[in-house]
Amino acid sequence: MFEFGDLRFRPVEREDLKLLHEWENDFEVIMYSRGKPINFVSMGQLEKQYEEWMKDEKEIHLIIERVDLKEAIGIARIEKSDFGNVRNAEVGTYIGKKELWGKGSGKQITVALLEICFNQLNMERCEAWSVEYNHRAHKALEACGFKKGGAMRQVEFVNGRKWDGFHFDILRDEYLAIRMDLLKQVLGNRLEEYIKKHCTIAGH
Ligand SMILES: CC(C)(COP(=O)(O)OP(=O)(O)OC[C@H]1O[C@@H](n2cnc3c(N)ncnc32)[C@H](O)[C@@H]1OP(=O)(O)O)[C@@H](O)C(=O)NCCC(=O)NCCS
Repeated sequence: MFEFGDLRFRPVEREDLKLLHEWENDFEVIMYSRGKPINFVSMGQLEKQYEEWMKDEKEIHLIIERVDLKEAIGIARIEKSDFGNVRNAEVGTYIGKKELWGKGSGKQITVALLEICFNQLNMERCEAWSVEYNHRAHKALEACGFKKGGAMRQVEFVNGRKWDGFHFDILRDEYLAIRMDLLKQVLGNRLEEYIKKHCTIAGH
């Protein structure tokens, strides 16, 4: 488990599939997170997908819990890959509890994913994709230091028209330059506790 302020990241368990079934069939959640809101998914398909996740060492799928609310609020995915010899991670997330959108958890989740990628997995770069109309996600990514690069043009079709897919990335050094500021912003007075637990090892 990875604890980050009020958030806790833990592996997806079979018992979570019921919750995922609800979120993965929510038109709005999937419209924003994947740009394919009609790709409904049955429980059987989710079970198969879960079996695949268990075998795949390149992908990490995590349930995000809000410890203060005592409930799961969303999911995150980290896909590890190598560009030549460069360690790269693609990250993605959604908050399935829509009532929490726009209340700051997204930024906290994004910083937590950067901490996992750069401070635990030793990545050199981190990237994310987001559909053109997803302004909230673009803001969350940019607020955490991601830079918008290119666009994959007209790659999605939703609500009667085509939309571009935007690519965002951040390099390790860029993150390290703003890391403490970001950690302060999202952890507040819990920063010291985090640094003690995740940035040092007793006796070293
Ligand atoms: C994208 C998502 C993870 C962001 O999390 P969130 O908790 O809603 O966002 P936050 O409250 O942390 O806000 C992040 C930024 O977006 C801004 N924002 C919030 N609501 C917004 C809106 N409706 N339009 C534009 N920007 C918005 C905030 O001001 C903040 O920027 P700032 O730090 O520069 O002020 C969440 O909204 C979500 O899960 N959406 C559905 C699925 C999805 O889009 N997944 C991401 C796919 S790339």
